Amino acid sequence: MKISLLILSLITISCGSKHTNRELKLAHGLDVNHSVHKAMELMSDRLEHHSGGKMTMRIYPNQQLGSERELLELLQIGSIDLSKASAAVVENFAPEIKLLSIPYLFRSDDHMAKVFDGPIGDALLASSSPYLFRGLSFYDAGKRSFYTKDRRVDKPEDLKGLKIRVQSSNTAIQMVNNFGAAATPIPFGELYTALQQGVVDGAENNPPSFYLTGHYEVCKYYILDEHTGVPDMLLISEHTWKKLNEEERGWLQQSARESYAYQKELWKKSEEEALEAVRVAGVEIIRPDKRLFQEESKAILGDLLDSERLKQLYHQVQDVK
Ligand code: GCU
Repeated sequence: MKISLLILSLITISCGSKHTNRELKLAHGLDVNHSVHKAMELMSDRLEHHSGGKMTMRIYPNQQLGSERELLELLQIGSIDLSKASAAVVENFAPEIKLLSIPYLFRSDDHMAKVFDGPIGDALLASSSPYLFRGLSFYDAGKRSFYTKDRRVDKPEDLKGLKIRVQSSNTAIQMVNNFGAAATPIPFGELYTALQQGVVDGAENNPPSFYLTGHYEVCKYYILDEHTGVPDMLLISEHTWKKLNEEERGWLQQSARESYAYQKELWKKSEEEALEAVRVAGVEIIRPDKRLFQEESKAILGDLLDSERLKQLYHQVQDVK
């Protein structure tokens, strides 16, 4: 009798609560000192707060669960709930995202923020849902610039013949090859060793990643040509999304918005700190005439905009005032 009462009360308790406790698994490839990771920790707190403890997040940083490309595949099969990937990698799955890797797409930081935070940004975040994950938010990843081990680079011609690591992105491969270098895709986590062993002569990234990966220990020159403004994207598996009710989606969306706002606050400072830290460590920071790189990149714009939809998006971005 006592046992059946106990069972009955347990059933009542579990059926009585509308939301079961849910822990979402988020995996990404960045260091725990990166602004994106810090903003995810804030997201985790906010999610717990908004849901009254019914929904929580566990974060796996530093590529513990795989490279960005592998993590996107895990999202597709629902093995993890959330991930963060560079748009350059997402473009392999969702073609409209190629737009974000077009060289010199944005006129200014302000223009870039307006695009991410406006209707074009929303359309791009939603565009990957047929491929089994959808964007919840962007994260600012600033501008990407070249860094080299031994060769000083002041103009595009100086890149000729160098092996330059790129992300797994056709757009990045075409851009780097167009400068006369040999684009070499290598996963982010393998790059330090690749640079050290001379598999590649250089790479390209934003200041915080150049610094936090330790690549500056191997590369003497950082050339701020700022060729792309490829953002990071916070993504959720469609399998997870479909299981959530409206209220639960709302908690997540609100927490993601707060996380993005916080990361944008941290970004500028982390960029400045990273530049200062690599300079102090002995890296020569070169500020080349960016127009030379921009002019050179125009030659491939037609090839990069390889669908009507991409051309349309490109023009819409130019029209954002
Ligand atoms: C950026 C981005 C990372 C990405 C890296 C790369 O730093 O934030 O998510 O992995 O570029 O070049 O692979």
